[in-house]
Amino acid sequence: MSDISTRVPVAAPAHETADAAVIKGRHSENVLVGEEIVRHSFLSRVIHWSVAVSMVICLLTGLPIWTPIFGWMAFLFGGLQVCRWLHPWAGIFFFAASLVMFLHWAGQMWLGKSDWDWLGGLFSSTKSEAVDSQIGKYNGGQKIFFFTSALAALALMASGIVLWFPLSFDQGLREVSWILHDLTFILFTASIIGHIYLGTASEPGTFSAMTRGAVSKKWARFHHPRWYREVTGEESRRR
Ligand code: HEM
Repeated sequence: MSDISTRVPVAAPAHETADAAVIKGRHSENVLVGEEIVRHSFLSRVIHWSVAVSMVICLLTGLPIWTPIFGWMAFLFGGLQVCRWLHPWAGIFFFAASLVMFLHWAGQMWLGKSDWDWLGGLFSSTKSEAVDSQIGKYNGGQKIFFFTSALAALALMASGIVLWFPLSFDQGLREVSWILHDLTFILFTASIIGHIYLGTASEPGTFSAMTRGAVSKKWARFHHPRWYREVTGEESRRR
């Protein structure tokens, strides 16, 4: 009979089993690790998910306050009273996290000529390979989404403060704030649904950029060819 201890697999040393891209992503981004590229550092991901989670809490606590049609959602948080208390505090957190995200990413999000050309291409029937090959780390649509999200966070915060302390503001401002708060959250939610779709089902391989922090070289070459060239130094091959 064989000695059982000889058949127990010996654990490989930590440096052989660990995920190299995840380790690199703790401190860096825009670096090549084997067949992957680290796209978002750990810090970027923590900031992004703080914004995302707080936004979802704002939405789920806000909808039952907005209309009884969504009243059933209040039970997720222990009732309508809890929602009324939690919603403004989650809103403060969401705004603070959005501000941090804005300061963290703004430097990379200014639109250049190649971004405007790319956006122009969305309204043109002909697809230009020359324009597509100039897509950097973010495309024009992602950059526009970034700035509209920041504006939405500002509008929600400003109008939310008025609605939180209604007695401190006059009737006219309260009415404008109701409209601004409702209109912004409806449009913002629609854009977030589009963002989630693009970040998951519609573009396979994108979600891992915000979870593990890394994407495949193939994904980078396909979606962000100029960024791919900058990171790898390689010429991006035609698909
Ligand atoms: C709740 C579900 C969400 C999912 C699954 C999600 C997913 C993602 C993914 C995968 C990326 C990386 C895209 C890339 O590297 O090219 C990303 C980026 C980003 N996310 Fe989200 N996100 C969510 C919510 C939000 C929310 C609520 C905001 C609020 C403002 C937001 C703002 C951003 C911004 C500004 C970027 C960078 C620009 C862009 O890639 O569009 N995300 N998200």
